Amino acid sequence: MISEAAIWHDLECGAYEADLDCWRTLANDYGGPILDVGAGTGRIALMLAQLGHQVTALDLDESLLAALSQRAPAGGIETLCADARDFELDRQFALIIVPMLTVQLFGGAAGRARFFDSASAHLAPGGCVALAIADLLDDENGTSGGEATEADRCTTAGISYSTRAVALNRRDGQVGIERRRELESPDGKREVKAATDWIDTVTAEQLEAEAEAVGLTVAPQRLIPATSEYIGSAVICLNG
Ligand SMILES: C[S@@+](CC[C@H](N)C(=O)[O-])C[C@H]1O[C@@H](n2cnc3c(N)ncnc32)[C@H](O)[C@@H]1O
Repeated sequence: MISEAAIWHDLECGAYEADLDCWRTLANDYGGPILDVGAGTGRIALMLAQLGHQVTALDLDESLLAALSQRAPAGGIETLCADARDFELDRQFALIIVPMLTVQLFGGAAGRARFFDSASAHLAPGGCVALAIADLLDDENGTSGGEATEADRCTTAGISYSTRAVALNRRDGQVGIERRRELESPDGKREVKAATDWIDTVTAEQLEAEAEAVGLTVAPQRLIPATSEYIGSAVICLNG
């Protein structure tokens, strides 16, 4: 059975498609094996596996990886429940992708430095680490707020789930996407929960300098366009 965390994750991330072309192109350019960092329920890992790439999906949340495994094509997708800032595998990858602002969840520069250490140790010579970042407060970069404002809804096992971004909050070095999540059970009982994802603010220049400090080489950025519902983002590309 799918976990509640996976249901919210699907609702809040699953419909985003603007970046798929970019990850497909990078996978064509660099080939596999590919490490998908912060893979969640597999929005990108599943697409890349279906295209024939060998993918390993890494995430902190076991229940998200369980949902991913249930959806994997024949042959499966290798999963690793681990912290991206401290993981160990006995092999290297041609491409390490960090989609959807996941690098902005690593706890600032110190967390990113730990991630870059782990990632560079697992990057094959000539390979690429590609990280999507965005400035959630940059109105010129797309829809104000950076998130769909309409509620996303689904019904699973008779329970109705709805989630909507209601505010952007700020605190030192971070922007919080505050969501209102609502569940309604078949007997009409309602529960409302608030959830905030705190996203580190980081620029492309900062990220590139941090990567160069561990010996990675900066390659041209790629762009993920804004849509009517989602902010655009830059994909920082770093070669081993
Ligand atoms: C914004 S979601 C992106 C999910 C998926 N990559 C996508 O694009 O649909 C961020 C994911 O990163 C995972 N995550 C956050 N911090 C992590 C960490 N330190 N190590 C591994 N995974 C992490 C979360 O559990 C979540 O699944």
